[in-house]
Formats: sequence, C-alpha cells, structure tokens
Amino acid sequence: MLIRALTIKVSNFFRNPLVYELLFSSVLPQLISEFSFLKVWSLGCAYGEEPYSIAMLIRELLKKDKGTFDVRITGTDIDAAAIEKGVRGEYSADELEEVKKKYLDSCFQKVSRQAAPDGPEEIYRINNEIKSMVRLECSDIVRGLETKKKQLNSYNLILCRNVLIYMDKALREDTLRNILALLPEKGCLVTGESETLPSDIRSEFLQVFPGMKIYKKSR
Ligand SMILES: C[S@@+](CC[C@H](N)C(=O)[O-])C[C@H]1O[C@@H](n2cnc3c(N)ncnc32)[C@H](O)[C@@H]1O
Repeated sequence: MLIRALTIKVSNFFRNPLVYELLFSSVLPQLISEFSFLKVWSLGCAYGEEPYSIAMLIRELLKKDKGTFDVRITGTDIDAAAIEKGVRGEYSADELEEVKKKYLDSCFQKVSRQAAPDGPEEIYRINNEIKSMVRLECSDIVRGLETKKKQLNSYNLILCRNVLIYMDKALREDTLRNILALLPEKGCLVTGESETLPSDIRSEFLQVFPGMKIYKKSR
C-alpha cells in the first residue's frame, strides 16, 4: 500500500507519440538490421502500456519474420498491483486514447465485463499474440539492474522514461551507469522528455534525433 501511495503511475499507450513514430520508422528497423535479436526492457512500466506499445510496433515491423527473429520484451515495475493489471491486459476505452485504430483492431479484443460495479462495461483485452511477446514482472529498478549488471550487452533497447525524475542525483547516476553497462555498442536508451543525462554518461551516447531523448551507445 505504501508503494502504491508513493509511486506515480501516470502512463499511456504510445505516450509521446513522436517517440513511437521514431522508434517505428528508424530505431527499431536499425536494431533489427544490426542485431540478430531484439531484447527490450521497459523499466518502471506502470500497467504495461509501454512494453505492450513496443510489442505492437515490433509485431508490425517483423510481420512474417517474427517466428524466426528472437524478440523478448520485459516490463518491470515496483508496484505489484500495477503489474497484475498489466498481466490481465484489460483496459478501458479511456486508457486507449492514443492507440491507433489499426492497433486496436489487430491487437485487442473488445469484451464486455458483466460483473462491473456499475453494470456491464466494455473493455479491451490485449490479444494473446501481443501478450506472448511481453513478460511483466514486479521488481525494483535498483535491485533489478544490480542483478543483471554482469550480463553485459544483454539488452539492445532500454526504456527508462519518467522514472529517473523521481530519483536523487546519486541513484539516478548509478541507475544510468548500470543501464549503460547492459547495452551493447549501437544499443539504444530512451528516457522521458524532461529527463537529462549527466555529462559523463551523455558522452557515451549519440543523440539520434535533435531534441529527442533517444540515445544510441557509441562505443
Ligand atoms: C510516471 S510512471 C512512468 C511509466 C512509463 N515509463 C511512462 O513513461 O509512461 C513511473 C513508474 O515507475 C515506477 N517506479 C518508481 N520507482 C520504481 C522503482 N524503484 N523500481 C521500479 N519501478 C519504479 C512507478 O511504480 C510507476 O509505475
């Protein structure tokens, strides 16, 4: 209850649509051509909106090749109840405002929940294909990164958006250093719009698009 009360779980499918446009048109295609795998980690994923949004893009990009390309998307959050909702994969129409019709039609199933307190309610359930691409787990970013620290180069896309702002300077720097260690050369990091990297960490990355918080590890 304390964790629920202290954490801010504002999120959205395709939050900051321009970020997703750039991931779809440039970042993910480059990662697909440069690596034989796509291992994505969404840190602080709230109710699963971010990892599921990425899964929809990857599904569309890989189409028939999906079976032959190694794709693993992990979403972690410290709030167990948020993760439980993400695993259920059920969202109201209001929660899906930013989702394009093509994804609503191809990645969700509209169902009616009879047992809702105010009578039957229309909800959208993530389909099994998208669900099977995403693993959601309850875990703390700090401990999670410490545990994975030795698995160098094990992810090629890490999203840590709108979480760093809640950390103090020392914790933010440690977190970013651990993220840096997990990424291979040409691996990508995405942070939130209002989050900045300290200069020593920033110097390890190229900013892929001017003004956008999408970084590619340069060495
Ligand atoms: C503002 S939301 C951002 C969600 C998503 N990344 C986005 O940008 O839309 C921040 C999320 O980080 C989670 N969080 C905060 N501290 C965390 C920690 N130490 N470990 C894991 N998750 C954490 C919160 O529970 C919350 O769901």
